Amino acid sequence: MLTPVLRDRLRLPLIAAPMTAVSGPELVIAACRGGVIGSFPAHNARTTEELDAWLTRIAAALDTDGAPVAPNLVVHRSNPRLADDVACLARHRVPLVITSVGSPAAVLGPLRDAGCLVFADVASMRHVDRALALGVDGLVLLTAGAGGQTGWHNPLAFLRAVRRRYDGPLVLAGGIADGAALLAAQVAGADLAYMGTKFIATEESMAGAEYRAALVAATLDDITQTSGPTGLPANLLAGKVDPDAGAGQSTGFRFDVIAGATEVWAAGHSVCGVDAVLGVAELIERTHREYSAAAEAMTRNHIY
Ligand SMILES: Cc1cc2nc3c(=O)[nH]c(=O)nc-3n(C[C@H](O)[C@H](O)[C@H](O)COP(=O)(O)O)c2cc1C
Repeated sequence: MLTPVLRDRLRLPLIAAPMTAVSGPELVIAACRGGVIGSFPAHNARTTEELDAWLTRIAAALDTDGAPVAPNLVVHRSNPRLADDVACLARHRVPLVITSVGSPAAVLGPLRDAGCLVFADVASMRHVDRALALGVDGLVLLTAGAGGQTGWHNPLAFLRAVRRRYDGPLVLAGGIADGAALLAAQVAGADLAYMGTKFIATEESMAGAEYRAALVAATLDDITQTSGPTGLPANLLAGKVDPDAGAGQSTGFRFDVIAGATEVWAAGHSVCGVDAVLGVAELIERTHREYSAAAEAMTRNHIY
């Protein structure tokens, strides 16, 4: 169940996922205006000062309209900006912060004190137990097929396993190719879902034209999983990277690698739903139509 601050201004139960080198203020503002939670990694702003400017700009553009903004923090120990970025997000009293790549233990206190909700991303039941023991406000379940840093559990099984022990907010990350998949995530127990790859191929994303065109041309079979670039399993567009490069030699996750990542083209299984580069507003409208059509079809076909 979502708190009213997250739920009340949504047109769809959707988060435009945080994506390195892809999500910036234009994408976030357009998503929030369309009624979708707009997320971006804090490290996409080159410095904490720039992060501060981005948050000011986003708040001014949205005023009191639109869905909430949800900055993402990489909480891994190799992130040298973490304390400064946390202080900046706390100053701006953002409604929701999503942590990734590590334990949110160090950031929970200061963010909570500032009134921010904190969701942690998790990829295993061990991560789930740890995050719940810390008292996070919600979980993002990274599942097999998610673009970029990925999970490995099947989305349906992972959702049901977590629902057996937690009735708080759950976000499904991975495999949401259209509005029908979004409805399916809700039916399986998610309160919200991430859409990442679909938002790369939008006019407002920071991705280059070649990257967007490659996503339009790609099929599901073009996604490959590697642990090369960051030392963690990631889904990328094959052809752009050698999936074996760096495999087995990894020295572990490094923040500087992800923060500077423009060389790899990350994408998830949901690439199967990318057939054009759209404006964010158009993508949201289309997803809404698909979601409504799926809900109607489900009612019609619910005969067993
Ligand atoms: C290009 C790209 C960059 C990403 N960067 C981040 C990131 O900086 N922080 C993060 O928490 N997740 C990151 N992710 C993961 C997404 O937030 C999300 O889990 C994923 O896109 C969901 O799968 P989908 O792309 O199939 O919708 C990234 C994903 C992609 C495709």
